[in-house]
Amino acid sequence: MSAFSALTATNPAASTRSAWSVLKFGGTSVSKRSRWDTIGRLALARRDESGPVLVVVSAVSGVTNALLAIIEAAQRDVAQAKSLAEVLCDKHREFAASLDLQADAVIGQRFAELHALVVDTRAARADFGWQAEVQALGELMSSALGEAYLNRQGIPIRWIDARQHMRAIVLPNTTQWAARLSVNCHIDTSDAYRAGFAEQGDLLITQGFIARDEAGQTCILGRGGSDTSAAYFGARLQAARVEIWTDVPGMFSANPREVPQARLLSRLDYEEAQEIATTGAKVLHPRCIGPCREAAVPLWIRDTERPELAGTLIDASAVDAAPGVKAISTRKGIVLVSMESIGMWQQVGFLADVFAIFRAHGLSVDLIGSAESNVTVSLDPSENLVSSNVIDALCADLVAFCRVKVIVPCAAITLVGRGMRSLLHKLSDVMAVFGRERVHLISQSSNDLNLTFVVDESVAEGLLPKLHELLIASGAMPVEETDVFGPSWRQLSGQAAARAACWWQSRSTALLALADSSPRYVYHLPTVRARAQALAAVEAVDRRFYAIKANPHPALLRTLVDEGYGLECVSQGELSHVFASVPALAPQRVLFTPSFAAREEYLLARERGVRITLDSVYPLEHWPELFHGQDLQLRIDPGFGSGHHEKVRTGGKGAKFGLPASRLAEFLATADRVGARIVGLHAHIGSGVTDAAHWRTVYSQLAGLAEQIGTVESIDVGGGLGVPYEPDAPAFDLDAYARALAEVKSAWPHYELWIEPGRYLVAEAGVLLTRVTQCVDKLGVRRIGVDAGMNALIRPALYGAYHEILNLSRLQDAAGSPADVVGPICESGDVLGRRRRLPDRTQEGDVLLIATAGAYGAAMASTYNLRALPDEELLDD
Ligand code: LLP
Repeated sequence: MSAFSALTATNPAASTRSAWSVLKFGGTSVSKRSRWDTIGRLALARRDESGPVLVVVSAVSGVTNALLAIIEAAQRDVAQAKSLAEVLCDKHREFAASLDLQADAVIGQRFAELHALVVDTRAARADFGWQAEVQALGELMSSALGEAYLNRQGIPIRWIDARQHMRAIVLPNTTQWAARLSVNCHIDTSDAYRAGFAEQGDLLITQGFIARDEAGQTCILGRGGSDTSAAYFGARLQAARVEIWTDVPGMFSANPREVPQARLLSRLDYEEAQEIATTGAKVLHPRCIGPCREAAVPLWIRDTERPELAGTLIDASAVDAAPGVKAISTRKGIVLVSMESIGMWQQVGFLADVFAIFRAHGLSVDLIGSAESNVTVSLDPSENLVSSNVIDALCADLVAFCRVKVIVPCAAITLVGRGMRSLLHKLSDVMAVFGRERVHLISQSSNDLNLTFVVDESVAEGLLPKLHELLIASGAMPVEETDVFGPSWRQLSGQAAARAACWWQSRSTALLALADSSPRYVYHLPTVRARAQALAAVEAVDRRFYAIKANPHPALLRTLVDEGYGLECVSQGELSHVFASVPALAPQRVLFTPSFAAREEYLLARERGVRITLDSVYPLEHWPELFHGQDLQLRIDPGFGSGHHEKVRTGGKGAKFGLPASRLAEFLATADRVGARIVGLHAHIGSGVTDAAHWRTVYSQLAGLAEQIGTVESIDVGGGLGVPYEPDAPAFDLDAYARALAEVKSAWPHYELWIEPGRYLVAEAGVLLTRVTQCVDKLGVRRIGVDAGMNALIRPALYGAYHEILNLSRLQDAAGSPADVVGPICESGDVLGRRRRLPDRTQEGDVLLIATAGAYGAAMASTYNLRALPDEELLDD
């Protein structure tokens, strides 16, 4: 079903409504001739499909800002205002010419009005009504040009003045400013009104943003008011729908400019959309949702450049009982007002008193946090807040009641979605991120639709991509619900990484044959070599070690040793395994980097002659005899961690690894006493890191310390390089990694640069083959059971990790309905993938391939439930 037919089919009120469609086009959508052609085409198509059409337009891009500049200039420098006005008229002349129109013939009268307003006596006192009249000209001009152009194209659209229809209402506490420059409008839903409106024609064009007050004077709806105008018209006409045509494909789960992985939200209910719009998304003006919701008019966001995309549909039918975070957003410019009063405890009327002051200043309070002697509130960056010194005035009044502190600039980071309270257990990773920062205020909305954290603006910088990723990984944002979550911005904007050819795509026959024993891991040695060589081409690196914990299969170890890699081990078991698998390996090519290991393990490592890494003073203090005369490597905790999941971040206070730099002196003194020499510094901040800048920071920190120590010869920046698990995820940016390392290496060329990756070398070389055991539908959930569970591959259960899953037996079949792929282990967490669209014909005995399983797959497998360990096989062609 197309979104358009869904619109009529799912909306119970659809049949009782008028057939009007309201189509709103924003600034960029009316700024080019080709866009007006689109407007004409869409308007005609809607009229022919479903009935009369009202087109609501904004001013041409940049015009409202230009008008504001004129307003500003007119108050102090009329000559400048006049010249700005002339520039604006010229801009319209130019635009009209591109439409083959004579601007002066079509909107000459508006030009004259503008010039008259510039010299109006009201200008000097910045009269609000005068400001409204100046600003209204933008929409009056664009709509008139649009009408003339479309008529010329043979489209009989008729211009109407929005001010005849949009009547401002004055709400209690409305300031004089708001009464002219930020009005709300009356909604007349009477049959008589609709009948009268319909008499004007079935193809009309009007202005967004403008209205009139009781006295008939021009007012404006404030920034973003065109959306609201469209919604008011939609409500008044009881329209079949309001379509907001804009320059993005719809609402997203995060701001796509910051988070390219953000997903298009295909369907939302009014409340969710309201929250998302209010808490940061710029696509829709928050005020426009209310009128549509009250009148049950569906609101549909569409992309003017790409009308074929389905956009975001907001209506009452989208209410989904399943809880889930739909979006995360940030609002900057938040002002926090903290009010401290010792006398507040049980003091009747304190809040009433202070809130009365906010009201008197026309400030609306957003979030509230309270303690016995403190109330902290947040204020949205409203127009009067930025355009006047209202905060100073507010504080001056508040001091009579309490001590006031204003905290700026703050940012509010909000998670929006239904059933936030029931999701808290999934938000632990998100909480952990905030836990490391200073959070001024946490607020959970009483409608259970949002959870907001207020932090300093600087903290919010760059945090969104990480939080978005964590929300998906934890299952809090159920992106597998494809009815709600559409494609990612990256996919829509054509930036999705074209899937790099995977070795297994051309080897399905061989793999199917190998699945005679199942579950079975299969490793492709040429892929291991290819990754090893790509990394070896990073010039700044002097020595490379493979972290065998990722996959200790002997053939992989031999392959990597042949490629020139040393091996990094973390246990006695790994050490023994390494020398058994590659007997000729020189001990100098082996690192021993254990964590909280027993004394015997260090003893064994020493006997083998491998390079030992210590990460605390304890071994030196308690077993000095082991380290006497040894050259050691010291693992530093750089104070921060990074990686695909909280559980794999190895830096900072919360992690058990590494010596904090603050204890370096003590460590060095002890090493000196023991007679050990520190010849290498080491840090490994975590696993699955995608931002190359981290290694630059780590190296710089270590180099700084190395300079103090004096005996250091090498700096090991660990492993951690990420790999793409999702089919459209970008490959690890090896060039950026090479550049970052080259930069630091050139700053400190006297240290050897070492690395010790695991995942990067083997993850993509491995797949897990598993056979379908049972296919079961239970209470509407489709489940495909397989013989590999969390015993064979624990990453999805442990980290919420994503692994692509496909049915190797039915590669030609189309995607089917969503199914959870589950294992045979007696745990609810035994799920390998959720809501995967495996072919509907998938059946017992089919072979499923679980991709990117070469790292931390077999290595972490267990015999839990006494199930046998998965088999392992190799392919070398
Ligand atoms: N060096 C040290 C000291 C490490 O602890 C690790 C991994 C590495 C190097 C290699 O990191 P890699 O390049 O593979 O990211 N089981 C988790 C990963 C745990 C990584 C533990 N340490 C997972 O499946 O994601």
